[in-house]
Amino acid sequence: MSEPKQITILGIESSCDDTSAAVLRGFKILANITAGQDVHREYGGVVPEMASREHQKHIVPVVQAALRKAGVSAAELNAIAYTQGPGLLGSLLVGASFAKSMAMALGVPALPVHHMKAHVLAHFIAQEGMSAPPFPFICLTVSGGHTQILNVHSTSHFEVLGQTTDDAAGEAFDKAARVLGLPYPGGPEIDKLSRDGDPHKFTFTKPKVPGLDFSFSGLKTGFKLLVEKGQKNDATFVGNNLNDLCASIQHTIVSLLLANLEKALLQTGISHVALAGGVSANSYLRASLQSLAAKKGWTTYTTPLEYCTDNGAMIAIAGRFDLDANRTGLLGDAAKARMGMEG
Ligand code: KG4
Ligand code: ZN
Repeated sequence: MSEPKQITILGIESSCDDTSAAVLRGFKILANITAGQDVHREYGGVVPEMASREHQKHIVPVVQAALRKAGVSAAELNAIAYTQGPGLLGSLLVGASFAKSMAMALGVPALPVHHMKAHVLAHFIAQEGMSAPPFPFICLTVSGGHTQILNVHSTSHFEVLGQTTDDAAGEAFDKAARVLGLPYPGGPEIDKLSRDGDPHKFTFTKPKVPGLDFSFSGLKTGFKLLVEKGQKNDATFVGNNLNDLCASIQHTIVSLLLANLEKALLQTGISHVALAGGVSANSYLRASLQSLAAKKGWTTYTTPLEYCTDNGAMIAIAGRFDLDANRTGLLGDAAKARMGMEG
């Protein structure tokens, strides 16, 4: 007897500056192809108009490459999931229009997915030797646009316990990198340079924010002032202290994240903790969480690096849960720059 046919979903992500497509069969990823956009490097941040133009160039070859690598034909797809929001409207529109058109042509459902929920749901992609977190678990979701502490009750119920009141943690990394003259995105650059630096060389005033919320904009200003002052006294200040500056700002950002995460676990009594989003690729954050968890008796969950930063795989798995719950989309669903976590 032949095996029952497994559900196959194409996931398309285009919310910011990565065009990504993935093929999910069952709960396994067969292919996850991402095209980045180097055009933004020299601008120190994503230029929205350029981003949507690049998505238009990349979307067809990226989808074709994902299907080819997966060995799956378009006719075998059961649904097409795409990022509906939040994100840059022009970027979202490219992925959403492409996904809805392709779904209509194939006669399969289009599944509009919430980008931040998808970051969390990446933990449910089946992987050899790794288990998914049990419900409820606490998830620190840290990306270029968001910083949230979530109590994840189920694959569709995300309770926001705390979030940033201004900049996101990824933005803090990117802006600090920009001050140091490092290319965009700055997070991975700071991560690398910090390995040879002293995390305690420079200290910064920590913001006072009530509850489990965060604030990173004061830190950004404090870092800029420290660098400007250093340069005034010594033109070689940045060059001579680059590793220490990176390690110190990274240490400060990670300490702020972990302090609130610890409070959230204490408040809820939950001991399963996950990291998600682009900043969860940070090696110092991952290692610091590991050692704190070892002391506190928490169980930690991280995803492979390719599922931390923006990727089509997380969109496909989020789509799978929507399909299972009959939450399919309509042709008229609009891309949304802003979207809450409720609902
Ligand atoms: O989730 P993501 O790919 O896109 C958004 O949804 O925003 O996150 C991008 C953010 C950028 O700010 C980038 O600098 C940061 O994630 N990032 C990192 C690392 N890798 C990516 N930050 C610190 N360390 C890293 N290794
Ligand atoms: Zn993201």
